[in-house]
Amino acid sequence: MNNPFKLAIAHGPNFCNRTAEKKLLCHNMRSGIHTVVYAPRRYGKSSLAAVVGDQLTDMTCIYVDLFSATSPEDVAEKIYRGIVGTLGHKAADKTSLAARILASFKSLRLNIEFSQVTSLPEFSVSLGEVSAEIHLEHIISSLDHYCASHGIKVCLVLDEFQEICELKESKKIEALLRGGMQSAKHVSFLVMGSRRTILRDMFEDRKRPFYKSAFVYMLPQIQSDEFAAFLVERYAESGKVLSQSDALSMVEFVDAYPYYVQKIAMLHFDMVGEYDELARAKKLLVEMEATDFEGIFLGLTNHQKRLLRAIAKQRPASIHSQAFLVAYRLGSQGGVQTSLAKLKKMDMVEMRDKSWRVVDPVFEKWLIEQ
Ligand SMILES: Nc1ncnc2c1ncn2[C@@H]1O[C@H](COP(=O)(O)OP(=O)(O)OP(=O)(O)O)[C@@H](O)[C@H]1O
Ligand SMILES: [Mg+2]
Repeated sequence: MNNPFKLAIAHGPNFCNRTAEKKLLCHNMRSGIHTVVYAPRRYGKSSLAAVVGDQLTDMTCIYVDLFSATSPEDVAEKIYRGIVGTLGHKAADKTSLAARILASFKSLRLNIEFSQVTSLPEFSVSLGEVSAEIHLEHIISSLDHYCASHGIKVCLVLDEFQEICELKESKKIEALLRGGMQSAKHVSFLVMGSRRTILRDMFEDRKRPFYKSAFVYMLPQIQSDEFAAFLVERYAESGKVLSQSDALSMVEFVDAYPYYVQKIAMLHFDMVGEYDELARAKKLLVEMEATDFEGIFLGLTNHQKRLLRAIAKQRPASIHSQAFLVAYRLGSQGGVQTSLAKLKKMDMVEMRDKSWRVVDPVFEKWLIEQ
């Protein structure tokens, strides 16, 4: 029997629920409301962007992955590649494609060759002599111009947007993109990213260019009972039986965190009918993640490690209570403040339901065991 669970982007029957999120994002994109969706790592951002893109059949959806962008040139090239690739593949008349694209994207260097095997166009883009700043200043207005001339509307997905914040030129890039974003009439932005503190600062700090330029939305949890029902159904479709209570037990073990739900179900699916399968799947999941967690943990200072472990064990309501500081030998308030700021910036801890928590539920379990 084929294991139906995947660690890749979820789509089709592998995508659970998120009905309200899909509706909201489709509505925003159609209405020209730029939207920022932020969530922790491996929470389903890219999967949701892909599903929304599939639903927006009345728009052209351009997907740009900014992961590992290291310079403004990289950012401009990645955006161009996304645009040209999508417009190219959608165009009915491929022969006049380059001329049509270049009529709007005037400073772009574009080369199109037709593959001898598939006869599909293959593109290469370059920035030529023109600086990345000039490209970034004009890229969105050029896209808007293309949309106006061809009677289309575009949803521009910029995934892994937090990567821009890591660049030393980030403020300049933000300012350049913001200009295009504000005046675009036919392009809606769907910005996705993790590292929530960084991203939130980018869009909610009044001193930053993107302040109040977009609808900012935190991707909510998928309800545990709905996720459990989804697992039961996926098992049944693949010829195995899973009880609702076992499904719920798995989902709750990983706090309905989408990546871990897929992973624990993937492990458990292959154990169905064996001895103590549920407990073994849970244990195996934590063991499998341990190497990654060790790596993350090793990158922290001793004080950050102590604070992180204390938060995992205690889930404190206040980080500054004297009892908490003493019990975990955390020293001064100032030191805790500095370590907390760093852990928050790395999206490792968050305030949720009135207490401080480790964001990753499996990392939290591993930390408690140490
Ligand atoms: N709605 C969903 N239903 C079921 N599984 C999901 C859903 N959304 C995401 N997943 C699963 O969660 C994992 C992470 O999904 P995805 O890559 O979309 O997240 P992400 O937030 O973009 O991650 P990253 O931070 O690594 O870019 C994948 O294994 C995917 O199958
Ligand atoms: Mg992603």
